[in-house]
Amino acid sequence: MKLFLDTANIGDIRNGVRLGVISGVTTNPSLAAAEGIGSAESYKSAVREISEMVDGPISVEVVSLDAKGMIAEGRDIAGWIPNPWVKIPSTADGFEAISVLTSEGINVNQTLCFSVNQALLGAQAGSTAVSPFIGRLDDIGLQGVDLIRDIVSVYEKHKIETKVLAASIRHTLHCTLAAQAGAHIATVPYKVLLQMVNHPLTDSGVARFKADWDKTGNS
Ligand code: E4P
Repeated sequence: MKLFLDTANIGDIRNGVRLGVISGVTTNPSLAAAEGIGSAESYKSAVREISEMVDGPISVEVVSLDAKGMIAEGRDIAGWIPNPWVKIPSTADGFEAISVLTSEGINVNQTLCFSVNQALLGAQAGSTAVSPFIGRLDDIGLQGVDLIRDIVSVYEKHKIETKVLAASIRHTLHCTLAAQAGAHIATVPYKVLLQMVNHPLTDSGVARFKADWDKTGNS
């Protein structure tokens, strides 16, 4: 399972990429707004900066609600950077836009997916990746990771090539469960990436190895 960073924060992306474990980035209008990005121009310039740091797909979301607007935005975004994945929501207009954009060779990350049927529709429309939102399903009392497992199993059964991108990951257990459920990609907030690194036994083990070595008089 590949790891993407789910943020529009340039500093966090720079730090995360340094670990050598990040294969892409996902952004959305909420994440962009949280970084003070308030116009298409500033979104574009942030996305270009991200693209220079990350060797992999960068997901950029449309804000139009109608197919015509999504298609126009998607075509525009496709010209911003070398490896864009245009994020399109799982709505009727969204599926129309996905089918048009993918027929033009533009990669699409089908976002806000909450059911196997939406994932099936997206695959038929040509989605490059589908993003089931685990955390938001947990928020309404469901087991979000079950959706990942179900989509992976249906896609495998029907030899569908659309990637399953686990999104709305809130903590490290989500990441482990998404991997066990067969997700091809998980997009994680920077905070979760750091939590994945840390373990108290690693920290105490490193400290003890160093202390024991120092006791020998070596340095
Ligand atoms: C992914 O592409 C989404 O932008 C993101 O994971 C949404 O996460 P949230 O539900 O925590 O806002």
